[in-house]
Amino acid sequence: MSVVCTGIIMIQKSNLEKNILITGGAGFIGSHTCVELLQKGYHVIVVDNLVNSSAEALKRVEEITGKKVTFYKGSLLDKEFLENVFQSELFHYVIHFAGLKAVGESALKPLEYYQNNLTGSFVLLEVMRKYKVKNLIFSSSATVYGKPNTLPITEDFPVGCVTNPYGRTKFFLEEIFRDIYNADQEWNIILLRYFNPIGAHESGLIGENPNGIPNNLLPYVARVAVGTYPYIRIYGNNYNTPDGTGVRDYIHVVDLAKGHVKALEKMEKDVDSRNGIMRIYNLGTGIGYSVFDIIRAFSKICGRRLPYRVEERRAGDIDVCYADTTKAQQELGWKAEFDLERMCKDTYRWQVMNPNGYVK
Ligand code: NAD
Ligand code: UFG
Repeated sequence: MSVVCTGIIMIQKSNLEKNILITGGAGFIGSHTCVELLQKGYHVIVVDNLVNSSAEALKRVEEITGKKVTFYKGSLLDKEFLENVFQSELFHYVIHFAGLKAVGESALKPLEYYQNNLTGSFVLLEVMRKYKVKNLIFSSSATVYGKPNTLPITEDFPVGCVTNPYGRTKFFLEEIFRDIYNADQEWNIILLRYFNPIGAHESGLIGENPNGIPNNLLPYVARVAVGTYPYIRIYGNNYNTPDGTGVRDYIHVVDLAKGHVKALEKMEKDVDSRNGIMRIYNLGTGIGYSVFDIIRAFSKICGRRLPYRVEERRAGDIDVCYADTTKAQQELGWKAEFDLERMCKDTYRWQVMNPNGYVK
């Protein structure tokens, strides 16, 4: 076990100085959420094995906020390590981002995905229960809805018709959390179903840093914009959408991070009223954009028409997916603020400032 501490813990006094364990906090969404939490006065303790991230991201979180992050390097699969962390820190809440997330890779390595995402979560839940930390916010995904029959997607739509092992880990974990809550209502659990997170912090210091060739549209487009790849590959233009390309609900990662702060505030109220509860929210903008919309918007930002080629459909892709965000607006008081232009602008800035990701 290796433990790296990059900061110190102070004794918390006010409600806002609570200790939040962030699993996977060095990753794309986790690092942006750390920034928002630190800026709100929370203490952030990150557990991450850096399988898909870099400790440099956490240094940059400290640079952006001027605050310390406590970092324990290790895997959720290592129960002894995790117990040591829980013995060293007093946690009030856990935000659980840690997991493998590449859809295509999950089809090739299902066992690794089930082992990491499910077993890692089981170990976390066992340790949380042992140390009586029963407040959990979990990164779920719009992928649990599969192919929706109507749009926009509300939280009560049927779930489970997922087409790949990654998506199934999200669906299975949602069901498992529900069983755990049903058996013991001391638990407070919030499932956040993200739509398509893109963008980066406006400082350009943190952003999405995929290993190898990006699977997702925006990181690929950003690399075409800076000349890493010659053209964008559009996976099919014969979908049932206005221009034939897939339509998704892209959300700025900073808006998404702020959604976690709002969810945490909601959970704090639930804890104060001593009612364990399980809640589910969509986090999206409610607006769908096509692949062509994205290419046009990004071309405007980078000042040249980005080249593309239309190729075959990608297996498992659906026509359209966008959220109804009414529930999050009404219950969390949260609404995404940044538009597509801002999402592209921030993605581009991050890509230009960090052509090799976190490697200097
Ligand atoms: P990411 O890969 O950037 O972050 C995940 C982090 O978890 C990484 O830092 C990785 O090193 C860490 N990790 C993985 N397995 C671990 C383990 N066993 N122990 C400790 N750390 C481990 O991904 P992200 O985009 O920030 O996604 C965060 C969460 O949100 C994931 O659970 C993902 O499935 C979910 N999600 C992401 C998207 C998206 O498009 N980015 C959409 C919906 C849901
Ligand atoms: N696309 C391309 N070319 C590319 C990549 C994607 O044309 O190089 C298209 C896809 O066909 C799709 C759209 O761009 O129509 C978006 O694709 P992404 O891969 O960026 O995103 P997905 O909606 O397929 O999936 C993402 C995450 C999943 C998550 C889901 C819902 O990868 O993990 O959003 O949250 F489950």
